Amino acid sequence: MNTLLLHCRPGFENEVCAELSDQAARLDVAGYAKARPNSAHAEFICQEPGGAERLMRGQRFDRLIFPRQWARGEFVELPESDRISVLLERLQAYPVCGSLWLEVLDTNEGKELSTFCRKFEAPLRKALVKAGRLVEDGRKPRLLLTFKSGREMFLGVAEPDNSALWPMGIPRLKFPREAPSRSTLKLEEAWHQFIPRDQWDERLAPQMTSVDLGAAPGGWTWQLVNRHMKVTAVDNGPMAESLMDSGLVDHQRADGFTFRPRKPVDWMVCDIVEKPARTAALIETWLGEGWCREAVVNLKLPMKQRYAEVRRLLERIEDGFQARGVRVAIACKQLYHDREEVTCHLRRLK
Ligand SMILES: C[S@@+](CC[C@H](N)C(=O)[O-])C[C@H]1O[C@@H](n2cnc3c(N)ncnc32)[C@H](O)[C@@H]1O
Repeated sequence: MNTLLLHCRPGFENEVCAELSDQAARLDVAGYAKARPNSAHAEFICQEPGGAERLMRGQRFDRLIFPRQWARGEFVELPESDRISVLLERLQAYPVCGSLWLEVLDTNEGKELSTFCRKFEAPLRKALVKAGRLVEDGRKPRLLLTFKSGREMFLGVAEPDNSALWPMGIPRLKFPREAPSRSTLKLEEAWHQFIPRDQWDERLAPQMTSVDLGAAPGGWTWQLVNRHMKVTAVDNGPMAESLMDSGLVDHQRADGFTFRPRKPVDWMVCDIVEKPARTAALIETWLGEGWCREAVVNLKLPMKQRYAEVRRLLERIEDGFQARGVRVAIACKQLYHDREEVTCHLRRLK
């Protein structure tokens, strides 16, 4: 029960290892991280009893940047038949759980296993309930079963309020057909990730004002317009006609790095492909000067040392706010719809 399994985007296993090692050191939990390239997961092996649980209790999952999902537990080899009996046996060492998710890794093998998972779920759920290992209770730990193959799985648990919002950390968002680009889903996912659903009406309200830097062709602007916000779309490139017809968009052909709003706005969003240090400075100016109250900004990642570089930039932004005497809540996550990038959310606090 003393291993942490962490799902991630394939290719970001080293970032997860670096991040977990960093947080474990902060919490004084002895252990080491390991991962195979492009396996879409990493492991953190704790070397003291209860280490994995202590790490999870001392770390907010939503403060981790690269892991998409996590669970503490152990790997279990499964026989070809009667897998459920083996699982029930192993579960004796686990707490009674309040919910069950069957997960796979974000690899081609993982995709192939999803059909098997779907078929396995109903009989497993039934057996768990019958054995008293699963009761319906949102406060109890969630049982997370990650299949690596039909013969090997990770049997894990996580607290539902301190783990991914969706199985495997992947939101099932439907691409809106009217949106001019697929990037639109990045902003929608960011809102799901960073803004509790019951606060959307207040924080993403109609008539709010917003600026979209690097807006063309308009996927992010579409999301803002969909919330009935007024948008200043800053980009030298063309915006989709359908958006301009909404009457809510003012297209400014200007440089996003020198553009300054005439009046402070509620929201600034930015999806410009630029060196992350330059984007970080832009974030500091907008929030620091009070040009916006809330922001979602995409930070493109460098080629190497990606975790260390993101941490360094976040610290620099925080230091900048401190020097100006402004309080800003900062969160940063590699979202499912992010590629070689992470998404930052910032909100000025009173
Ligand atoms: C990744 S695309 C944005 C996609 C957009 N978020 C969407 O959902 O459709 C980046 C955009 O940034 C624009 N861009 C690049 N440098 C810029 C700058 N300095 N100022 C404003 N826009 C810039 C490009 O013209 C391009 O349209």
